[in-house]
Amino acid sequence: MTSLPALLSERVEAVAGVDPELRPATKPQFGHFQSNVALRLAKTEGVPPREIAQRIVDKLEIDDLCETPDIAGPGFINFRLKTSVLAAAVNKLAADENLGISQVAEPERVVIDYSSPNVAKQMHVGHLRSTIIGDCFNRVLSATGEDVIAQNHIGDWGRQFGMLIEQIIDEDLDLGSLDLAGAEELYKRANESLNSSEEFADRARARVVKLQGGDEDTRKIWERLIEISKAGFNNTYRRLNVLLDDGDLAGESTYNEFLNQVAEDLQSRGIAVEDQGALVVFVDGFDAPAIIRNSAGGYGYDVTDIAAIRYRVNELKADRIIYVTDARQANHFALAFAVARKAGYLPDSVKAEHVGFGMVLGPDGKPFKTREGTAVHLDDLLDDAEKNATPEVALAAIKYADLSSGLQKDYVFDVERMTATSGDTGPYLQYAHARCANILREAKARGFQPSEVGQLAEPAEQDLALQLSGFGNAVHVVAADLTPHKLCGYLYELADKFSKFYEKCPVLKSADEVRASRLGLVAATKQVLSAGLELLGIVAPERM
Ligand code: ARG
Repeated sequence: MTSLPALLSERVEAVAGVDPELRPATKPQFGHFQSNVALRLAKTEGVPPREIAQRIVDKLEIDDLCETPDIAGPGFINFRLKTSVLAAAVNKLAADENLGISQVAEPERVVIDYSSPNVAKQMHVGHLRSTIIGDCFNRVLSATGEDVIAQNHIGDWGRQFGMLIEQIIDEDLDLGSLDLAGAEELYKRANESLNSSEEFADRARARVVKLQGGDEDTRKIWERLIEISKAGFNNTYRRLNVLLDDGDLAGESTYNEFLNQVAEDLQSRGIAVEDQGALVVFVDGFDAPAIIRNSAGGYGYDVTDIAAIRYRVNELKADRIIYVTDARQANHFALAFAVARKAGYLPDSVKAEHVGFGMVLGPDGKPFKTREGTAVHLDDLLDDAEKNATPEVALAAIKYADLSSGLQKDYVFDVERMTATSGDTGPYLQYAHARCANILREAKARGFQPSEVGQLAEPAEQDLALQLSGFGNAVHVVAADLTPHKLCGYLYELADKFSKFYEKCPVLKSADEVRASRLGLVAATKQVLSAGLELLGIVAPERM
């Protein structure tokens, strides 16, 4: 759906010949939008700007949208949307099950690879960001009608299992009582053994070969480690209230069976070459090649992602693949995409994007670490935020902080600021929603019903209605550019306009028709806030 400003802009451009660059009017008496297009054209045409403005206004066909535009000052054109148009836009949106989010005509199959923690390790802040951002992409793209497949590419394969399994055997560890935190401790002990004993290291390497060869006892222990880890991940997912579940799991081991094939295929077509005993693919513009098989004959992270791309295109029928990891993996994905394109696994018709995000910083502005210098666990962060707020609010605070500044930026994990109910925070938006709910509850108690939105005589009502009408467009922008901060910005502005409306326009104390219309506006605001927060993965509370 084209937004009202976009529609108006198109019509003006059709007459002016250039983008009118509509700006929101600075004062209500200037209407809703202002354009300086006549001043710009005057420079090139050598005609007085007011004359040009008049010429444009005379030719405009915007009666269905606007009052007759004013020409102001040196030649600005001021546009005032008809209040009937604004009211109709809000009423249409409120009655639409998709709240004005138009559904794409031809849904794309979008594979989103996110969260992707590693087995036998607890999730850390980086996985928190990936999980929250990926969850938002999933929700937003689904809301526009795309066909989304989430893929949780957990690290469930690789050399680390050799040492983990050897350590378990050495300790005769009871796996029945091990949880994820315990597995992480095990991981540390296994690492110590690996670093201190050659003999252990040899056994660990041999164990990897056994695992890859399908040795039954080895596989059983491996499977058990995955079960333990999955249970731990699922606890966190539930705590985070995200959409991921076991059906989305497709860990690195999924692609194990294809790695030989991929290596042979790349080698036989001359795409991969032997280099210092390893099989690699060189790509122009990259410092180092992609490693298909290392000199010991093992497969690693690069080739696994190349095989995963092939699988996602061929089996999952992806039209678009999105990866959400921290920005430091940008080169890895650029290289994997380049190799996959070269090999024809990733045809030009399929888009592949890596959305790299910045780091979470501690209060000192340095990467967030524990006192011991290790990465902070996600559960500790949640515990921390919950000291200041209820779980619902704490989660909103974290998610909003994660999504509301450009993803590429680092952000400081500042619990005080994030959980405040004023300012650009998640709790502030929740609070705006609860306020709408309050008003509607109070109205109901007094026997007042909302009606469709009617007159919109006050500028504050018009501003709110105009903002509401832009919801669908805001969601589509986020779906196209993968920029959740723009949805946050939209909702923050909506909450702000609502707050101004509520300051200036009495609702319950107004006369019948005005009251009912204003209640309608409150109800529509509540609907949009609730839907918008849901797209961010944030709960919209009825009371706060
Ligand atoms: N497990 C990796 C990590 O923790 C992230 C995996 C991202 N996805 C992928 N297809 N490589 O860093």
